[in-house]
Amino acid sequence: MTDAQPSADRRLAAQALAADDPTGWFEPLYAEAAAGTSVVPWDRDEPNPLLVDWVTTTSTPLGGRALVIGCGYGVDAEFVAAQGIRTTAFDISPTAIRGARTRFPQSPVTYKVADLLHPPAAWLAAFDLVIESITIQSLPPAVREASIAAIRGFLAPDATLLVIADIATTPAPGPPWPLTPADMNAIATSDLTPIRVERLPRPDTPGRHRWRAEFHRPAVQGTPATDHGTP
Ligand SMILES: C[S@@+](CC[C@H](N)C(=O)[O-])C[C@H]1O[C@@H](n2cnc3c(N)ncnc32)[C@H](O)[C@@H]1O
Repeated sequence: MTDAQPSADRRLAAQALAADDPTGWFEPLYAEAAAGTSVVPWDRDEPNPLLVDWVTTTSTPLGGRALVIGCGYGVDAEFVAAQGIRTTAFDISPTAIRGARTRFPQSPVTYKVADLLHPPAAWLAAFDLVIESITIQSLPPAVREASIAAIRGFLAPDATLLVIADIATTPAPGPPWPLTPADMNAIATSDLTPIRVERLPRPDTPGRHRWRAEFHRPAVQGTPATDHGTP
């Protein structure tokens, strides 16, 4: 990472936030990167090692349909699809989605331009596995609740949500806006159960830690048989 990279995010984010547009800096950043004048700081060639470790060690059934949120150039989505899961991945930036399709021309992933804060209705309760890696924290706290609510909405009965995020330590101006323990607690609801919430060392960044949390939406239970008595 060069010194110019963080300043590109922060410069573009500051402009977007000043215009009260919390998502307005992603497309300009990817467009600058496409023009070669900036670099996307979270871009990497390998899938997120905390995702790889979870997928390869979990006993949780992964299900048949996955959704990857804020997929950028698609490296994590390709990894998920390689597990044999029908995978949809989306990003708000059309340039990022074009980049993913160019990078993986033979991809089995369905890449879409979409906004987490205004998702397609067809995605409601449509996925068995939802992967959220550092997208919630890239949006300001004012839209945190809305982002999390939208993510919950994607989960089908019996689905799993995996959240990977930086851990908030000292207050600092974002982006990013890492997640506090209270933020992690607030992801769970009466119908979204935390299975495991871990603070793990980042294999790719020695000395830093991230949340990795798994949540489960219960399968819809059949209505219990009711004894109405014998007429
Ligand atoms: C910090 S990057 C994380 C990228 C990737 N998930 C990862 O783990 O490296 C956040 C990504 O989410 C996308 N994004 C931000 N807000 C979004 C929104 N409202 N809807 C969809 N994508 C969004 C950005 O364009 C960017 O690619």
